[in-house]
Amino acid sequence: MKAFAKYGAVALMLAAMTGCGDKGGADKAADAGKAGGALTIGFSQIGSESGWRAAETKLAKLEAEKRGITLKVSDAQQQQANQIKAIRSFIAQGVDAILLAPVISSGWDEVLGEAKAANIPVVLLDRQIDTADASLYLSAVTSDTVEEGRVAGRWLVSTLAGRDCRVVEIQGTIGASLVANRKKGFEEGISTAANVQIVRTQSGEFTRAKGKEVMEGFIKAEAPGSICAVYAHNDDMMIGAIQAMKEAGLKPGSDILAVSIDAVPDIFKAMADGDANATVELTPDMASRAYDLLAAYKKDGTQPPKWVQTPSTLYLPDTAAAEYERRKDLY
Ligand code: AHR
Repeated sequence: MKAFAKYGAVALMLAAMTGCGDKGGADKAADAGKAGGALTIGFSQIGSESGWRAAETKLAKLEAEKRGITLKVSDAQQQQANQIKAIRSFIAQGVDAILLAPVISSGWDEVLGEAKAANIPVVLLDRQIDTADASLYLSAVTSDTVEEGRVAGRWLVSTLAGRDCRVVEIQGTIGASLVANRKKGFEEGISTAANVQIVRTQSGEFTRAKGKEVMEGFIKAEAPGSICAVYAHNDDMMIGAIQAMKEAGLKPGSDILAVSIDAVPDIFKAMADGDANATVELTPDMASRAYDLLAAYKKDGTQPPKWVQTPSTLYLPDTAAAEYERRKDLY
């Protein structure tokens, strides 16, 4: 036993010194470590435009720590150019995998081609990309963003029960895959009701400040009492819109119905206070799903599904207080 251990140590030393030959003990040990989760992963994050996004980053870090993953996070401050730079830097550092939350859907082929050439798998988080070459990424962990819009639209139609309704829409960042989808889905959701119409639509860039500004503009542009509902592509913009409605002397949640997407703690607080009516959940826990599939892929080449879909559950005021308590420390 002792002789075997001694031989093993010498063989490891030699393998390390020469750096050649069949996969030596050191390499095998490193591979086994990776299979066990000791990966280095680069995460190109969009920024921190919303509470949801901040929670996604926080959970990505927490889950990495739990699994012994070294996570390198790069904040792109909403710029695709910064994301491309970060991906190139991750490639140069030789990371084991890359997570990418793409700010917009187009323009990724070249840099993802470079990651592919370097044998580094890329997992998309929370948004899809437009590409004719699906081999450029290993998997995408996202919700069905068209369905999110549908859920919101159907809720509005059923709540109105035949009443006429002029809806204003606050969209997210133009060019992001989910913005066109959330719009399309909502339009489909309300398409069964000729009495429900979108009368104004504008981007609030997924931020509270912009959401407020856009809602102020809508209130000024529309005749008093003529807006019946607001559909915002995320909760943060809705929180901003709620503030704008209050400042204009309106009662959000009753004078104007409010439905949005994400299910962040602040919207549950607003629902519990009667200021908002519904939200569609988008889980911020995207990275743990990516870590799981990357661990299996690295261990024995298990091919993950091309799309790992997260649920789109509707939440209403009846559970808002409890949901707020349950989520407030996660964010
Ligand atoms: O891509 C997910 C979206 O981006 C969230 O709905 C929004 O809050 C975020 O900024």
